[in-house]
This record gives sequence, C-alpha cells and structure tokens, in this order.
Amino acid sequence: MSEPAASAAGSLLDVNGLLENPVFAGGFGLASLGAALAFARRGALASAGLIRRRLLVNVEISRQDPAYPWILAWLSEPRPQTSFLAKRLTRINKLSVTTATSTTPNGPTQASFFLQPGYGRHIVKYKHAYIAVNREKQSTAKTNTGEPHETLELTTLYAHRHIFEDVFTEARGLALRANEGKTVVYSVRNFDWVPLGIPRRKRPLASVVLDKGVKEDIVNDARDFLARRQWYVDRGIPYRRGYLLYGPPGSGKSSFIQALAGELDYSVAMINLSEIGVTDDKLAFLLTKLPERSIVLLEDADSAFVNRRRRDADGYSGGTVTFSGLLNALDGLSAGEERIAFLTTNHIELLDPALIRPGRVDMMVRIGEATRYQAAQMWDRFYGDVDHDGVNRERFLARLDELGLFRDVVEGANPIRTSTAAIQGLFLFNKNDMEGAINMAEGLIPQKLEAEP
Ligand SMILES: Nc1ncnc2c1ncn2[C@@H]1O[C@H](COP(=O)(O)OP(=O)(O)OP(=O)(O)O)[C@@H](O)[C@H]1O
Ligand SMILES: [Mg+2]
Repeated sequence: MSEPAASAAGSLLDVNGLLENPVFAGGFGLASLGAALAFARRGALASAGLIRRRLLVNVEISRQDPAYPWILAWLSEPRPQTSFLAKRLTRINKLSVTTATSTTPNGPTQASFFLQPGYGRHIVKYKHAYIAVNREKQSTAKTNTGEPHETLELTTLYAHRHIFEDVFTEARGLALRANEGKTVVYSVRNFDWVPLGIPRRKRPLASVVLDKGVKEDIVNDARDFLARRQWYVDRGIPYRRGYLLYGPPGSGKSSFIQALAGELDYSVAMINLSEIGVTDDKLAFLLTKLPERSIVLLEDADSAFVNRRRRDADGYSGGTVTFSGLLNALDGLSAGEERIAFLTTNHIELLDPALIRPGRVDMMVRIGEATRYQAAQMWDRFYGDVDHDGVNRERFLARLDELGLFRDVVEGANPIRTSTAAIQGLFLFNKNDMEGAINMAEGLIPQKLEAEP
C-alpha cells in the first residue's frame, strides 16, 4: 500500500506530513465544511432534485468488492492542490487508521499506521473533476460475517463520468504496485479472505532446499499449467490443477508453496482444514470468491478424512470440513472454474484414493526427511562463503552418515531420520560457526517425547 502517512521510522505518525497533505489536511480549523456540504446538499435537494439526478453520477462500491480497499488506498494518495478553493474543499477531517505491526530484526515490534478517509463525506479533486466521497456503515444491513455493511459512494458530475474509469484503473495499479516483490498470504476471517499481516517479501525458491529435482518438477508442472489456459478452454475442461504435498513435519512443504507463489507472482489463500469452524459450506463459499491470482493452500487435508470417520460413528462432523465437503470444494459444482490448489498433510495414510483424481489432485509429491543432497545444499547456503573448499561440508556429511541420519543412505527396520527444519535450526544456532554445527550434529537425532517415569 502506499503509505503517505506512515513515517519512515515506523512508530510515530508524521503529523506534519499529514497536515501538509491537502488530502489529509486535518482541516482542524475548518469545521464548517460538513455543514456547508450539508447545506449545499439540502439546498440542492430542495430546489433541484431533478437536476441533481440528471447532472450527477455515482458509483457505489460495497465492502465485499475487491475494489473497496483499492479505492480507500487511492483516496489516501497525496494530491497536492494549488487553487485556493480546491485546497479548502478537499481537506479531509475524518480519518481512520489501520495499524500493522511487525517485528524488526533488532528490537521490539515496529508499527506502521496507514491512514484512510474515515466514515462520512469527503471531497477529492482528481485531474479536472471533483469527486464527492461518502463512506458509510449501514447499520441495518449485516454481512454474513455479522459486521455492518459498508459502502463507499463516489459522486461526480455527469459530464465527468469518465473519470471513474481512470480512478479504478489507477487504484488497481496502486494496489498491484504496493505488493510488488511481496507475497500476500490471505487467511480466512469469518467468511472473508483477509491479508494475513503485512505482505511478506517474496521467499526465493532457492531458499527452499528439496531433494534433487523435486522442486523443478513441481515448478515446471505449474508453469506448464499456467501457460495452457487456452488449451483447457478449447476442450471445455475446468482450468484447475491440484497438488498434494505430503510428508513429515518441518520438511519445507509450506515454505515451498509460499516460495512457489512468489516465483509465479501469485498470492496464497490459506485455509487450515483442521480448524474448527471451517465447515463444508464455508469452504465451498470461500473457494467461489478467491482473491485474484492466488494459489489455494489447504493445510492438514487429512483432517477432512478423520472427520468422515468421526461422522460415521456419531453422525456429527464437529463443525469442520468433511470428506465429501473437501471433494466438492475441489471439483464439485461450487468449485471455481479456475484455480491451482495445494493440499498438505503429514498423514498420507489417512487420505482416501478418491482424492487422487485428475482435477482434484493431479500431482502427488512426498517431501520427506532430509537427504544427503539436501544437507549438502543447505550447508552451502549457510557456510558456502566461509567453507570455500567444502572440506567442512564433507566432515559434516560424514558425521551425519556416522549417525545414520540420512533417509536416502540408511535403510533399516527402524532408521532414525532428521528433518530439514532441524538442520536449519542447527545452522541458525551456529551461525558462522562450522565447528559448532559439526559438534552439535548429534542434536539432529529426533527427540522422543516420553513421559517421565
Ligand atoms: N527443505 C527446506 N528448505 C529450506 N528450509 C526448510 C526446509 N524444510 C524446512 N525448512 C524450514 O523449517 C521451517 C518449517 O518448515 P515448513 O513450515 O515449510 O515445514 P512443513 O513441511 O510445512 O511442516 P508441517 O508439515 O509441520 O506443516 C521453516 O522455517 C523453513 O524455512
Ligand atoms: Mg506446513
């Protein structure tokens, strides 16, 4: 988002900047704008209702519409006015704030404040046209989330009606630019997709180390799919593709999906299927209104299958997604025509073969415990700049061999294995300290959690 009023340092409002900004200029001394407006409006209503209807055009944007946040952000753009009248008219007296917090590398949390026009009436001047803005909460109508319905109404002269096209184009452009280089992760709040925190910097694909060729296979498949839209359309096949990533915790499934989304320039729309309250209806509804250019990520897909069994037993599904709910969401009538879905699970054995059907899940990949190849790659990512000849890498790998930790090297009745997350943890603990990493390699042996005797 453009953040005209978010200070560079982060935690303080740049009040000066705010006041100098005519869009925001508090208008603390000009309390009469509202009254003047109301007066003008009453006059207009009384004397020339007809003319008003003839001469003005307005556009109503509902809170539910994707354009709603774009237009709000667009309204917050600084638009310096030169003429006296424009300066006075376009002051905004009512603001609302959206605060986002994030942790900084060296210190407490950082907050950024994003100011937007508050509820009520405002005027903006854009190019040659004045646009009256009315942001309203409708207390009577409730959305399905229980929140009051909200609308934004833009009004301008009939003669200037074409300005709306420019407004929407510019607002959309702004929204796109604000997220450039970032991956937006949407999560579910009630019945809506909302961005989860501040958009994150794209995670480079190279930072996720999967076994040899695995990453390339999935990335190529997804790219191929994206390039074939017309092919699907011509054949009347729904343009959908599903992937299932399964394997033990901490193997990089979620990280990979996030990095892939960044690579393809997509957002991630994430639903945790094990969460209480995500019901079949809700899932179906959410999939019909996915944020544009987003990959659907259904985490913990196995919970839908567990629920089936639970339901069989007592006839109640416990307020979560059922097996049939998941299948319908993936390719039933309610499923959108276009989408890429990723499912993840730690328990492939709980899944049902019905899931593995073209259009539901087209590609299944196991993302497993760490292999020798992955450990070597990760070593290079962490210590490549200090371990020029790779001698220490070989020592580290030899040590892991000795401990019998690689899934591709040791096979046995009860092999011990380790996760890439654990290796990352070890390296993070021993930043710049190769000896430390080698000495502590034993810590990679998974701990068994056992009750004390
Ligand atoms: N293969 C990997 N390459 C790079 N980083 C990894 C890899 N595997 C795990 N990590 C790191 O470990 C952490 C956990 O990884 P992630 O959440 O992607 O695992 P996951 O497979 O989704 O686990 P779960 O099944 O529990 O959801 C992240 O910080 C991630 O960066
Ligand atoms: Mg995960």
